[in-house]
Amino acid sequence: MTLDNGRKLLAIPGPSVVPDRVLNAMHQPSPNIYYGPLKEMIEGMIPDLKQLAGTTGDVVFYITNGHGTWEAALSNTVAAGEKVLVLGTGPFALGWGAVAQTLGIEIEVIDFGKQSSVDIAQVETRLLADKNNDIKAILVVQTDTSTSVRNDISALGQAIRATGHPALYMVDCMASLGTEPHFMDEWLVDVMVSGCQKGLMVPAGMGFVFLNNRAHAARREMDRVSYYWDWAPRVAPEMLYQRFAGTPPTHHLMGLREALDMILIEEGLENVWTRHRVFAQAIWAAVDSWGSAGRMWLNIKEPDKRSFAVTSITTSHFDGGKIRDWCENVAGVTLGIGLGMADAKSPEFENYFRIGHMGHMNVPMILGTLGTIDAALKALDIPHGAGALEAANHVIATASR
Ligand SMILES: Cc1ncc(COP(=O)(O)O)c(C=O)c1O
Repeated sequence: MTLDNGRKLLAIPGPSVVPDRVLNAMHQPSPNIYYGPLKEMIEGMIPDLKQLAGTTGDVVFYITNGHGTWEAALSNTVAAGEKVLVLGTGPFALGWGAVAQTLGIEIEVIDFGKQSSVDIAQVETRLLADKNNDIKAILVVQTDTSTSVRNDISALGQAIRATGHPALYMVDCMASLGTEPHFMDEWLVDVMVSGCQKGLMVPAGMGFVFLNNRAHAARREMDRVSYYWDWAPRVAPEMLYQRFAGTPPTHHLMGLREALDMILIEEGLENVWTRHRVFAQAIWAAVDSWGSAGRMWLNIKEPDKRSFAVTSITTSHFDGGKIRDWCENVAGVTLGIGLGMADAKSPEFENYFRIGHMGHMNVPMILGTLGTIDAALKALDIPHGAGALEAANHVIATASR
């Protein structure tokens, strides 16, 4: 039977739940795209996005998803035949590397696997050995949305610069912008890419590239950059039209304005980060309780290396897909698949599921998701430890005092 009525809950790690307020803000007649309120709204949004990223550098908008921002960042800075160093902590940095290859860029991968963060000492050793400075850029994710590992972007940035190597430090914050702290300038990041569909709570379709002066200098060295990805005209456009290399994504921008107000003015960025941390800790406590029966565990063992936006769970001797199916079809909660954790055609693919807890989430949404998983474990007769909801509640209650 199904018990699914009421509002469905999307608990995947992006796209995330879009607040009604954001949807309503998008529900407007098409505006003038050359002058007037839309232009003013966009100009006002730029400092807000930079505040979110912790930078005094520039931000460029693209009508694209995350993959497009990967291509944009590379197209402006690394020429075909040059080399980038990819720091793999799951499929997303590796995916960025794959995009680089399609641009004719040589990639060198240090793969840290799917349960670990970047080992900074290995990166230092590799950079110190690169006497000719062949490596033009280093690609890494802050949060890998698949493995749910979080890399220490600050420590890595300090280490890279301490080697004296000039490679650009490029960081993917697709899942971490607006969900966990990021201080681009302080952490010595040169290029940061992100999108609107996770922490920023807007339907997918808009990407951002943040860049500093070192990134501008790399762009100037490029012989040729394709019209669409070239960030130079977008940074200082004569007309709004040029900021987007054509028609702006008018309604996405209206939604983003509303979301930025919610994040920066109403809740406050520090609170947003704290809320994400508390929800993540509540989820970890619940999974640890279920896992005491030996059938499931958090993919990332060390708490300080876990994302605050997504939690990846490994299952043993039962099919994680069955939990997802029960939650979606019986209860109306959609959980994440084990994307990139195993080959989609292999039985191992079903040994994972993920909980997305980013963006527009509150206590009932988190506890509702955990309660639904708890019911699924019982309905499917999957052995699990008791007290998961109590453990999660304890985290939330303690944090709220
Ligand atoms: C960390 C990370 N980087 C990049 C991407 C790619 O973004 P998109 O699917 O919007 O192309 C994703 C998507 O989930 C992601 O989680």
